[in-house]
This record gives sequence, C-alpha cells and structure tokens, in this order.
Amino acid sequence: MRKTFLFVVLSLFLVFKGIADEGMWIPMLIGKNIAEMQRMGLKLTAEDLYSVNNASLKDAIVQFGGGCTGELISAEGLLITNHHCGYPEIQSHSTVDHNLLANGFWAASKAEELPNPGLSVRFLVRMDDVTNLVLKNIAPSMTEQERAKRIRQVADSLVAKAEKEGIGYEANVRPFYYGNQYYMFVYQVFEDVRLVGTPPESIGKFGGDTDNWVWPRHTGDFSLFRIYADKNNNPAPYSPSNVPYKPKKFFKISMKGIKEGDFTLVYGFPGRTQQFITSHAVRLLIDQSNPHKINLRDIRLSIFNKFTESNDTIAIKYAAKHARVANAWKKWIGETMGLRRLDAVSKKQEQESMFAAWAATNPELKERYGWLLPTFDRLYAELAPLSLVVDYRNEAVYGVEMLSFASRFERLLSMALEPNADKAKLAEQRNKLVEYVRDFFKDFDLSVDREVFAAMMQAYYERIPQKLQPEFLGKFIQQSGNWRELARQIYSQTAFADSVRVLTLLNDIDSTNAREFLNDPVFSIYFEFEDLYRKNVQKRYFEITDSLDILYRTYVEGLMRMQPDKRFFPDANSTLRIAYGKVGGFAPRDGVVYDYYTTINGIYEKSQQRDVPDYVPPKRLMELYQAKDFGPYAVNGTVPVAFIASNHTTGGNSGSPVLDAEGNLIGVNFDRCWESTMSDVMFDPNYCRNISLDIRYALFVIDKYAGAKNLINEMVILQ
Ligand code: ARG
Ligand code: GLU
Repeated sequence: MRKTFLFVVLSLFLVFKGIADEGMWIPMLIGKNIAEMQRMGLKLTAEDLYSVNNASLKDAIVQFGGGCTGELISAEGLLITNHHCGYPEIQSHSTVDHNLLANGFWAASKAEELPNPGLSVRFLVRMDDVTNLVLKNIAPSMTEQERAKRIRQVADSLVAKAEKEGIGYEANVRPFYYGNQYYMFVYQVFEDVRLVGTPPESIGKFGGDTDNWVWPRHTGDFSLFRIYADKNNNPAPYSPSNVPYKPKKFFKISMKGIKEGDFTLVYGFPGRTQQFITSHAVRLLIDQSNPHKINLRDIRLSIFNKFTESNDTIAIKYAAKHARVANAWKKWIGETMGLRRLDAVSKKQEQESMFAAWAATNPELKERYGWLLPTFDRLYAELAPLSLVVDYRNEAVYGVEMLSFASRFERLLSMALEPNADKAKLAEQRNKLVEYVRDFFKDFDLSVDREVFAAMMQAYYERIPQKLQPEFLGKFIQQSGNWRELARQIYSQTAFADSVRVLTLLNDIDSTNAREFLNDPVFSIYFEFEDLYRKNVQKRYFEITDSLDILYRTYVEGLMRMQPDKRFFPDANSTLRIAYGKVGGFAPRDGVVYDYYTTINGIYEKSQQRDVPDYVPPKRLMELYQAKDFGPYAVNGTVPVAFIASNHTTGGNSGSPVLDAEGNLIGVNFDRCWESTMSDVMFDPNYCRNISLDIRYALFVIDKYAGAKNLINEMVILQ
C-alpha cells in the first residue's frame, strides 16, 4: 500500500514538475511563460518578442530555404545563417577551378553578391488561432477523410483571403496537438536572396562529419546572405535593379559574452518532434526502424567514401549528398542510445499506466479514453512489419539515385500515354522535368550509384519477405548470384543514365517515347517495387496511420485533461517557436564533465591530429592563432568558438538566433550534442544541450580572417 502510494506520488511528481528548459513555445502565446522566463533572467516583455502591431523580434527572423532559420543583422538586409544551411548555394557556385567550398567567398561590394535561383526566405507576418473556425463543422461521426476534407475547405478559404492581404504573402493552416488546435500562419516571401560571404569549409565545416552532433565542437558554422527587394521594399523576383531589403527589425550583436547560468533564448523554426508518442512507438523506433535505417546508410556511406576519397570531382558532386545522408544517420544512432539510456520505453509505460488508471476513475472518462491503450497495442503490432517495408522503400529503393530519378517520370509518362492528353499540361510537366534532369546530372556519378544499387538490392532481398519482393530480384540471384553483375547490366542498358538520351526523349515526348521510357530497365525496376508497395503495403499502412492520428488526438486531449495545471507545448511542426534555457555544461557519462564553451585553442589542438582530414584548418587561421592576433575578439588570450545551453531545439533550428536576456544576438544555433538527440522524443535537462556558434567567432572570422570590414561596418555591435 505504502509502496504504491509512493510510486504514484513519485510518478506524478515527474509528470507535473514543469521542467523549465523543456519546450518549443508558440510566440503568440508566450505571455503564459513570460513570468518564468523573466525569473530565469529575461529582461524583455512578451510584446517585445512577438507583436502584430509593432516591430518585434520575430520580424528579424526568417525561415531560410525551407529547412533552416536565419536572422537579420543589419539595416541593409544582411542575414546570417549556418554554413550547412547555405551549403547547397555555396556548392552550386563552386567548380574545381573556382571552389567556394574550399576557398570561401567574401563579396567586396554589393555588386559582387551572388544570386541564388530557387532560394527564398520568409518572414512570419502573423499567426491566428483558427481552431473554432476550422473545427466548427466537424462531427465525431465523420471518417478521417471526411474530417480532413472539411478542414481543408475551411483552411483553403482562410488562406486564399490572407494571401491577398500583401505582396508576396503566403499562408497555411497547421494542426497542433494532433489536430486539437489549428493556427493560420501568414508569411511574406522574398525570392531574391544573394550570397554575401562564407568561410572556407575548413572553418565552416571544421570537424565535418567526425564532429557532427558532437561536443566539444569547433565549427565556424555560418554564412552570410542578403535579402533584396524592389524599390518599394516589397518582395520581387531576382532583378539587377533590386535593392537591399530594409527590415522592420534586425538584431544587435553583443560582444559581452556569456557565462554559465546565463539566460538564452532560441527563436526559430524547429521541424519535427514526437513528444507524445506511446511506448509502442518508441520501441518500434529504437528496436526496428532506427537500426535498419542506420544499417542501410552505413552501407551507402561507405560506398560514397570509397569514391570521394580518391576522386576530387566526385567529392564535390557528392559533398552535399554525403553530408545529408550522414547527418540523419548519426542522429539516429545518438537518438537510439539516448532513448535506451533514459529507459524511455519504461517511462512511457509508466505514464500509460497512470493514464489508464485515471481513465478508469469514472464512466465518462472510461468511455472516451478507456479503449485507447489496447488499440495502440493492436495497431502498432500490425504496423511494425509494414513500417519495415516503408523504411526499406525510403532508404534502399529511393536511396538509389537512378530509382528516385525514374520515379520523377511517372506522372509525365502516364500523362503522355493518355489518348487525349492535354498538350499544354504535358508541355508544362515536361519543362519542369527537363529542369530537374539538368540539375540531377550536375551532381550524379554513375559508378557510385551503380554500386549503391547493387548493395541496396542485396539488402532488400535479404531482409524483406519474399511476397513483397520484385520477382526479378529472386530470379536474378538464382541465376548469377552476383549483385554487381546485375547492376552492371542495368546501368549499361538504361537510358536514364545518359543525360543526352533522356533530354532527347523528353524533348518530343509522345506516346512512343513514353513507351521507350516505360520499358527501360530502370523504370521497370522502379515500377515493380512501387507496384508491390502500392498493392500490398500502402493502403493498410495509411489506414493504420490515419487511425493512429485519431488515437493520438484523443490521447493528447486526455493527457491535457488529466494534468490541467501542466503547460503543454505542441510538437514542432516547422512553425516559429521560442525555446529558452541556460548556458551550461553537463556530465554526459560517469566520470566525464563537459565545459560549456570552446575556443580557438581547440582548433589548433584538433589540427595536431594530422591524419584526420576533417581537422585541417586554413593556414591563415592558424597564423592568426600563433600570433594571437585576435583584435577586439580576444577573451583571456583566446577567441571563444562555440557554447552549449539547455534550449530545446531540433532540426530546422539550424541558423536560429541565440539571444541574451536583452534580446541581443550572442550566437547562432547549429546543432545538438549527441547525448541530446533523443530530445525529439524525450527531453532531459541533464543531457539535452543545443550547440551554438559564439557570435564573436563569426565576427573574428569575418573581420580578422577575411578582412571583410565592409560587413562588420554594417552591423550594430555592442561592446
Ligand atoms: N547536425 C547538424 C544538423 O542537423 C549539422 C549538419 C551539417 N553538418 C554535417 N557535418 N553534416 O543539421
Ligand atoms: N543541425 C540541425 C539543423 O539543420 C540542428 C540540430 C538539431 O537537430 O538540433 O536544423
């Protein structure tokens, strides 16, 4: 009896205890947290952070290129984000002879800034709570599809109206708490965004994949862009006559520095978290999904490495691809370790037992919530084998570039084969594809992909049940037993591997040419995989995930009723959020303590390990170091480089401004510690730390390393 009581009290304590550092909060509702934030040190008001009537800090922040965050640091539209966020642009301006990745780039004047077709940034104009409007006509009896359709209708009309309110406006309506609430976001999009400056990779990516996700860190992970607007300061497509955008707000930069315990605020666009998932989902993630996906990427990465180590052209072509594949791979490894270490499955199970006990306390609760946990059990058991196929489809099938390339043709080909094909639509679709094809071949190497193909086919064959295998796999292996031979045959026959042939066929696409594509061995293989997936997996998979959506919506509603005093934050969904915490080190393992900051001394230290290619800083940086020529950026005879704090962040927060108590810029967020990556599922203030570039290192690189005084002069720097 006493024991049970103690158990309940303890677990209640765990659930109820508001962990101050956890959470990615909605800016419009930040008033609810502001007292706590001020207790932790913040000197600003909720209105300073987010306001629709006056310029506020949100007006200095952009979602950068879809997946990152950036912030304005001058009255002339100068923007700072991570080097890894600007990577595709930096890479696209690079060739073997004129290599911005290797050498860096600093525009000496605005005329030298480099345009980037396809890159855009967007500011949040405002957000509205539209829950009541959206859910007004939703009945409990509706199917998920009917519900979704109704919601879409209301959302579409709200969005259409909002988008007419201003130039370059784009809006969307997003669900929160699994569809218990809805908010509309109105953005202003700018399309003329030019590259202004970037350090060489040996600074911007120092430590590379060796150090990625790892503390202590010494990466100068920043790049500079500038937003351009038309003469009226409105968004406009690229034009030489555009002028630098004048922002409503930009960040002042603080050189005051940080110390342990200082308040920090990260304001950006976190992508996706899953804090509410049940023990079943956690188990699926760490026992099945992550290990398989990690293994498939292990294989792919070792093939990439083999080629890039011996061939510079391939190294440039595959630089961004390698970074992308390695990034999630390493994160998954850390996430699995972190969730196991926290014993996340048991913690979730404890919470589920409490929920079940609470839901049994009266008939109304029992009726509404009593069925949830047994249903989760059943659905996840059925989901697991289907989810394995989905993982192999994403990682093994689509991990082969030729197959994902072929998948892009499906729509056009089916249009071309229609007897009464609409010529205009066909041409439009074809032109889009032609552009894609040109881009694709810029960064494609057949010998790399051929080997990836062989390895992925083998992995699929060995792991996926026979009834979900394309016939050719089994047949082939019985005949020859050599996956490389299969790859050699396919890649020597296919038209998809030859840009000239592909473009010629596309040029006058008609039903004859379409058939030629359809009969191509690569397309046939792609289609066999897809056909099997569509017939045997997709339908049931989506039925289950739809049902899970309903379950989670109800479960989260229940959790909120069970703990009416707890402040819940919604999972990240690529909308603007505020995370706050404190600067501080941590103890990742028994006997190991991490300090909260690193310095340029560590760059020198790492560079002494001469056999690690990721640890080769530019000569000039080390000369400055040896001469202690640090200018105004010296602190105790060195230059600070990075620091960690307990802000709850995730992918998408890269490039986010890290602000001090006064709202001045002290850093740029770029990563999390490896021991922290489970925070997408379960945050723990003892182990969860975001990693930020110390803004003083960025200034040092711009000023002392690159000599780009013109940029320093644009900024407002507080001493
Ligand atoms: N881990 C960081 C993020 O998730 C940085 C990734 C880029 N850096 C790299 N070495 N791959 O985006
Ligand atoms: N590097 C990540 C990004 O690109 C941020 C790190 C994280 O996941 O916290 O957004």
